[in-house]
Amino acid sequence: MPESFRVALLPGDGIGKEVVPVGRAVLEAVAARRGLKLELHDLDLGADRFLRDGATFPDEDRRFVAEECDAVLLGAIGDPRVPSLDYAREILFGLRFGLDLYCNVRPIVCLSDTLMPLRDKRAEHCAMVVYRENTEGSYVNVGGTFKKGTVDEIAINEDVNTRKGVERVIRAAFSHAVEHGKKRVHMADKSNAMAHAHGLWRRVFDEVAREHPGIEARHVYVDALCLQMVRAPESFDVIVTNNLFGDIVTDLGAALQGGLGMAASANVRPKDPRWTHVRARCRGLFEPVHGSAPDIAGQDLANPLATVLTVGMLLTHLGVEDEEARLTAIVKEAVEQGVTTRDIGGNKGTREVGRWIVERVR
Ligand code: IPM
Ligand code: MG
Repeated sequence: MPESFRVALLPGDGIGKEVVPVGRAVLEAVAARRGLKLELHDLDLGADRFLRDGATFPDEDRRFVAEECDAVLLGAIGDPRVPSLDYAREILFGLRFGLDLYCNVRPIVCLSDTLMPLRDKRAEHCAMVVYRENTEGSYVNVGGTFKKGTVDEIAINEDVNTRKGVERVIRAAFSHAVEHGKKRVHMADKSNAMAHAHGLWRRVFDEVAREHPGIEARHVYVDALCLQMVRAPESFDVIVTNNLFGDIVTDLGAALQGGLGMAASANVRPKDPRWTHVRARCRGLFEPVHGSAPDIAGQDLANPLATVLTVGMLLTHLGVEDEEARLTAIVKEAVEQGVTTRDIGGNKGTREVGRWIVERVR
């Protein structure tokens, strides 16, 4: 019996509409080759939909994704025609928070020497992964403004760190290290300035580290982490950090991979039911780290390789073995043969790169 999966495709806005079709073609090619029963379902969400009927993330779509799908492949959300990004936050955070996808897993792997921006480093020096906490921290939208628009205005965004939220992502980072035979886990915070919230991170990290004597557990302040990621990226295997710091350091990381066009990500809720109250069937949202890039949208310029790598993560999540490594190897080959878009030095279009990849996947 063929295995059967349902994946929701959410191209969203801007270049999301160009890279997700490449992702779709890759998924279809893998499914055809392996005899997987793969059902793809298009989600009409994003700026076009919002401008058409005012809908952001309707309840029926939320329910369908949560209960009827195994995973979501997202392009990007954000469109200059809709200056308030409330609709974008509702969709993106609706998925991340609503499905309690508490690990944002962002590999920072440089696939080829030609992509390495650091003078004295080679690709092999950059092979780490960031576990970004994905459901709390500064992203919870707790806060408000007072005396708005006056000279006395006060603006507050709280940084919420729960024992459970911190512990579960730290545990996931250690589990990743154990499963992948990695030697080191670094936890990045700013406990020298934010003693309460990040004191909690340090205590929990030390506790979990004691349960993993075979793994070198190190604390690093996030500012020092940024310096060291550039100076000696080979120092890192697994990095765990909070939501906001994870957002920032993974853009720095993307630069080490050759740019945002090469950075993949997975938002996942690990299976262990002890760490979540959510029981939804859908446990994963997969998205390239880049945004909707309105400046280049619709011109066949977007780099689809981050999406191809993201599809690899999605397939691993679904339990389809070996495909992530295969797709990564094909992307590496595309880079080395110069079958790439402008952002990483090639002269091909999104569609042509996509076709080349799909041809090899078959
Ligand atoms: C990311 C993005 C988002 C984030 C934005 C669009 C809210 O920067 O996925 O890295 O901050 O999480
Ligand atoms: Mg970001």
